[in-house]
Amino acid sequence: MDKNAITIAIPKGRLLADCLDLFSRVNLKVSGGVDTSRKLLFPSEDSSARFLVVRDKDIPTYVEYGAADIGVVGKDVLLEAGKDLLEPVDLGFGFCRIVVAEPSFNTQQWCSSGWGHPRVATKYPNIAGDFFASRGEHVEIIPLYGAIELAPLTTLADRIVDLVSTGETLRQNNLVEVEEVIQVTARLVVNRASLRTRSDQLVHLIEEIRKASGK
Ligand code: PRP
Repeated sequence: MDKNAITIAIPKGRLLADCLDLFSRVNLKVSGGVDTSRKLLFPSEDSSARFLVVRDKDIPTYVEYGAADIGVVGKDVLLEAGKDLLEPVDLGFGFCRIVVAEPSFNTQQWCSSGWGHPRVATKYPNIAGDFFASRGEHVEIIPLYGAIELAPLTTLADRIVDLVSTGETLRQNNLVEVEEVIQVTARLVVNRASLRTRSDQLVHLIEEIRKASGK
């Protein structure tokens, strides 16, 4: 491995294939089977970079601390993490939305004040909290880690704030969208110190990525 290798954090899961494709288009092909291996660290074929394959929620932390020079992460994760990262390129892929949804059979009035505040289950407590606060609506945020759609079906919450891609999970659980909170795409994020100390390498790479993304 080249001792000047750039460290790039990419997320497991739904953005992985697009990330591998993007980096191969800027001549950084990952060596080894990222999809099949249990390894978490992969050199590029030319050894000029190494890829960390981590959970999407951990990417802002790796990049903030400089353990990775750059990373790719969804805007949803970025907003929720609230880290101070440079975000030079909207990569365009991984489009989805964060929405407010409720049971299609809901007949009760959504009431935003008074004694019992409506309960909103979400794995985005910061985004959801900011959204309702900005509208002056008082809600109780119920943080969950997954299967958010279950919350209104079990009386845990009145509504959810969650990611929607195809809409299939909402449909299959008899939920309907009430309102869009934000649109989400994958972003390139960069560590501020790395951009200063390795500016030749990184400025060039960011430019290549920008071109490869059609920006
Ligand atoms: C997300 C989201 C929904 C689902 C929406 O979950 O929380 O459950 O995808 O996708 P759809 O609109 O295409 O049906 P994810 O798969 O990321 O899993 P998680 O709940 O474990 O985070």
